Amino acid sequence: MSSLKLTAVHKSYGSVEVIKGVDLEIKSKEFVVFVGPSGCGKSTLLRMIAGLETISAGDLEIGGTRMNDVDPSKRGIAMVFQSYALYPHMTVRDNMGFALRFAGVAKDQIAIQVQQAARILALEPLLDRLPKELSGGQRQRVAIGRAIVRNPQVFLFDEPLSNLDAELRVHMRIEIARKATMIYVTHDQVEAMTLADTIVVLRDGIIEQVGRPLDLYDDPANQFVAGFIGSPKMNFLAATIVEKTTSSVTLELTNHGRARLALPVSGGAVGEAVTLGVRAEHFGEPGAGEVDIALDIDVAEHLGSTSYVYANRGGEALTIEREESRNEIGMQTITVSIDPVRAYLFDARGQRIR
Ligand SMILES: Nc1ncnc2c1ncn2[C@@H]1O[C@H](COP(=O)(O)OP(=O)(O)OP(=O)(O)O)[C@@H](O)[C@H]1O
Ligand SMILES: [Mg+2]
Repeated sequence: MSSLKLTAVHKSYGSVEVIKGVDLEIKSKEFVVFVGPSGCGKSTLLRMIAGLETISAGDLEIGGTRMNDVDPSKRGIAMVFQSYALYPHMTVRDNMGFALRFAGVAKDQIAIQVQQAARILALEPLLDRLPKELSGGQRQRVAIGRAIVRNPQVFLFDEPLSNLDAELRVHMRIEIARKATMIYVTHDQVEAMTLADTIVVLRDGIIEQVGRPLDLYDDPANQFVAGFIGSPKMNFLAATIVEKTTSSVTLELTNHGRARLALPVSGGAVGEAVTLGVRAEHFGEPGAGEVDIALDIDVAEHLGSTSYVYANRGGEALTIEREESRNEIGMQTITVSIDPVRAYLFDARGQRIR
């Protein structure tokens, strides 16, 4: 059993609170990704789970047992750090087997476990090299290998894969996720989307939302998650609610000649300043949605099958994703439509209006 449960977990350094009450349940063998901007508390949370930081308040359970005061070595956890150090005078093989030798594991058993980890990480041809004879990505894989050989119940990874190519990353994800619970930290939302069963979006020491990748993408709870998950970022347009029924509101778009559109939401109040969210790929051809807006193009990137158009109106910058059209190269303006069914509405505090 390697489930995890965090209940009202807090962390303070002196008078500075950096984790402000985190509740989270992670199932056995789940692959969970913590994502959030720099400084939001990802590493701190991971280090508390590993036992490298004390928990200021709240409870940590692993496999149903309270672990707050259990020694890191007895938690069944292996952690790969954001910055790692290999033993420079040891070969890849010895670096990977070190923890097992230290624990008194028999030599032939160490050899088997190192071999297995080397296979997962495509390190087999490099086992007799020294760290200085490896590339950055290869060194990073050795650091991961040191964790894998220990067969932990729970893996904690603090941004360890940034140097790995996509194929190896997916391979490793499959191999590891079969055996252990995984908590993986990254500030890269694309990496989070591709790796996770469950994404935990953190900001400033609290959880903003927990969910499956596409649920966060399709149904963000607030403007922060809406803007953080998805690439290019969701566009935000200033608006005011000018009319309201029980099942819809009508908005006036501040920077687009007071263009109006109705959204199927039941919240919000007339006169309220709101933000309309539209993903780059959800702008349509003129006439295809409920309202058209005309924009001045700043830059267009033509990628072959897709193009990204960076445009603005009234100082509001927008990104539009389009199917590539050779006719559009060099255009100065663009008109797009907004489909209310594919748009999101947020209040002034960034909470979703539904
Ligand atoms: N020992 C410490 N004393 C005081 N503040 C600390 C200490 N360690 C971390 N912090 C603060 O706690 C906050 C969270 O830090 P943490 O390292 O968890 O961020 P992170 O989300 O991992 O960021 P990054 O993506 O940059 O690695 C930061 O504001 C940081 O400055
Ligand atoms: Mg960190």
